[in-house]
Amino acid sequence: MELLKTANEVAARTTAARGRGETVGLVPTMGALHAGHASLIATAAEQCALVVVSVFVNPLQFGPGEDFERYPRNLEADLQRAAEAGADLVFAPGIEQLYPPPVNITVHVGELADVLEGAVRPGHFDGVVTVLTRLFNLVGPARAYFGEKDYQQLVIVRDLVRELRLPIVIVNCPTLREEDNLARSSRNAYLDPTARAAASVLYRALAAGAAATEQGTRDAAAVRRAMYAVTEMEPAATVDYLEVTDPERLIVLERIDGPVRLLGALRIGGVRLIDNLAAAPNPTAD
Ligand code: PAJ
Repeated sequence: MELLKTANEVAARTTAARGRGETVGLVPTMGALHAGHASLIATAAEQCALVVVSVFVNPLQFGPGEDFERYPRNLEADLQRAAEAGADLVFAPGIEQLYPPPVNITVHVGELADVLEGAVRPGHFDGVVTVLTRLFNLVGPARAYFGEKDYQQLVIVRDLVRELRLPIVIVNCPTLREEDNLARSSRNAYLDPTARAAASVLYRALAAGAAATEQGTRDAAAVRRAMYAVTEMEPAATVDYLEVTDPERLIVLERIDGPVRLLGALRIGGVRLIDNLAAAPNPTAD
């Protein structure tokens, strides 16, 4: 596996691969790679001749007071994980490689950037799509891999490639979880033992919402109550949101008439966790 740090080198390597007719796959990450990232890389390795993993903590997607400075960085460990999972090339650029000054051009996300995660993190999704546009353009992947863990990001990335007509297939990969179902996340490393023990409450709340949906509850407010009933049992948790949305456009629902996506975010011990689950009314529940 190769490590490249400059945009020119990556462009040269991927252009050559495309010239040989090879499928280039891209797995964009911010490093601190864990089993969730590894599953994306392994899926890419099954489908692509050249798998590029980008490792870049993107300052544009962090708000003031967020964890940009303390975000975990460990390139040596990342290189090992990426290689084990089947990456061919890690691109770990310095900031000037992706954002050569002056930075005049950014990409702006519409309505979807203002709800759920976006309501709590203004500017976050603009930062995400701006770095992805730059990475997509540089690497020229035929396929790019994203985790369902960040469901709103996935929906927005699908809009990005569709609206800009980027010739990239977006592949979504299921959420990898710990034994207690806590979604794997680089930020889990911030949890102290007490907070870690409490953290599974987010999944349990979403699972309660999914169960209520599957049992035929049509009133979304009742499903939300089922989720809050779980989080209220955990005094260490402060909920940012727990919502019932339609899976395509993430519109918050009042009535459940088909498949839904349940999304949640909460804070425990100073750490912000997000997660989501699919659910649908069981056809036999009526
Ligand atoms: P990061 O948080 O490093 O995540 C990189 C990719 O791994 C994302 O597509 C994310 O959804 C996926 N991922 C994270 N945890 C996962 C899990 N437990 N199971 C499955 N997939 C998981 O998301 C970002 O970085 C950034 O916003 C980025 C897209 C790289 C743009 O900077």
